[in-house]
Amino acid sequence: MTDALPPIPSRGLPLSARAPGKCIVFGEHAVVHGAPELVFAIDLHTQVFVRAGDGFRLNADPEAVSRNGYFRSAIEQSWVGGPPVDVRAVSRIPRAAGLGSSAAFTAAVASAFAAAQGGIDRPALAQRAFEIERGAQGVGSPGDTSTVVGGGYLAINGGDGEPLWTVRAGDRRWEVRRVPDPGWVWVVAHSGVPRSTGDAVRAVGRRLEQPDGPDLLAEFARVAREGIEAVARSDRDRAAELVRRNQELLREVGVSHPRLEALLEAGAPAAQAGKLTGAGAGGSVVVLPIPGREAELVRRLARAGGLPFVVRADLSGVSLVE
Ligand code: PMV
Repeated sequence: MTDALPPIPSRGLPLSARAPGKCIVFGEHAVVHGAPELVFAIDLHTQVFVRAGDGFRLNADPEAVSRNGYFRSAIEQSWVGGPPVDVRAVSRIPRAAGLGSSAAFTAAVASAFAAAQGGIDRPALAQRAFEIERGAQGVGSPGDTSTVVGGGYLAINGGDGEPLWTVRAGDRRWEVRRVPDPGWVWVVAHSGVPRSTGDAVRAVGRRLEQPDGPDLLAEFARVAREGIEAVARSDRDRAAELVRRNQELLREVGVSHPRLEALLEAGAPAAQAGKLTGAGAGGSVVVLPIPGREAELVRRLARAGGLPFVVRADLSGVSLVE
C-alpha cells in the first residue's frame, strides 16, 4: 500500500461514506500523556448516508442534535451554516466498546460533509475529525480519528520516517506515522460492560500523578516503542510478550475489569497474548491468536460471555461509497 491515501473528492448530496473501526495494540492512556501508541483500523465499518432534509435528523431522530454530542459537534464544526441534512448511520462496530464506533461515525460524517463542500485531503480530515471527537468527548488524543482516516497500522508519537500528518490542539501536537501491516489476524471481543472514556482517562491521569507515575509512564512508553518496532518487523513472539506487559501496566493503573480478565483467561489456551483495548474499565479485549486456532479462540471468548470478532487491518481508511 502507499503511504498517501487519496483525498476525499468533491461530490454533491446525496452521498454515502464509510469508515473502519479501530483497535489499539499498545499505549492507550499513556498516549494522552505523550507516550507512543500503536493503533490499527479494523475491518468492521460504520456507513452513513447523507441527503438534504427539512431538518437536522440522525436515523430519523429530529432531536439528535441535542441528544448526540458527536452529531452536534460534526454539524457545529464542519457544516457551519450548511442546509439541514438527514443522516442515516448503520454500524457493525459495537458501541462504547473501545473499538472506535465514535471515531468511525465522526470520520464518516466529516468525510460526507467535506465531500459536499468541495473535498478534503487526509491530513486536514484527520485534524477535523479529531476536533469533532474532542468537541464531543472533552478529552482524548487523536489516535482513534487518525487511524480511521488513515487506515492500516499507525503509530502516534512513535515509529520511524516522515509523519503522515501532525494533529494539533492548542500547543499540543501528535505526529502520526505509518507502520507496515504485518498481515496478522486478531480477535477482539466486547465484554458488554459499558464504560466512559472520559472517566477512565481522568482516573488514569490521577493515578499517574502518584510518586511512581513517571516510572509507570516511562514503562508504558518503552513497551509501546518496542511494540511498534516488533509489529513493523512482523516479530509476532516479541509483539506478544509486549502485549502481555502492556496489560500488566494497564492493570496497575486501574483500568482492567474482572470481566476483561475473565475473557483473557478464557482465551489464553488459544492465544499468544491478549490485553484490554481502548479506555478499559469495561469495553473490549484484543487477542493475538495462536496461528490456526482463531476459531477455537472465538468459541472460547463467546462461551465466556464475550462478543468476539475476527479482524484484520482495513487498509483504505474512510472513503466515499461509490
Ligand atoms: O475511547 P476508547 O476506548 O477508544 O479509548 C481511547 C484511548 C485512550 O487512550 C484511553 C484515550 C485517548 O483519547 O487516547
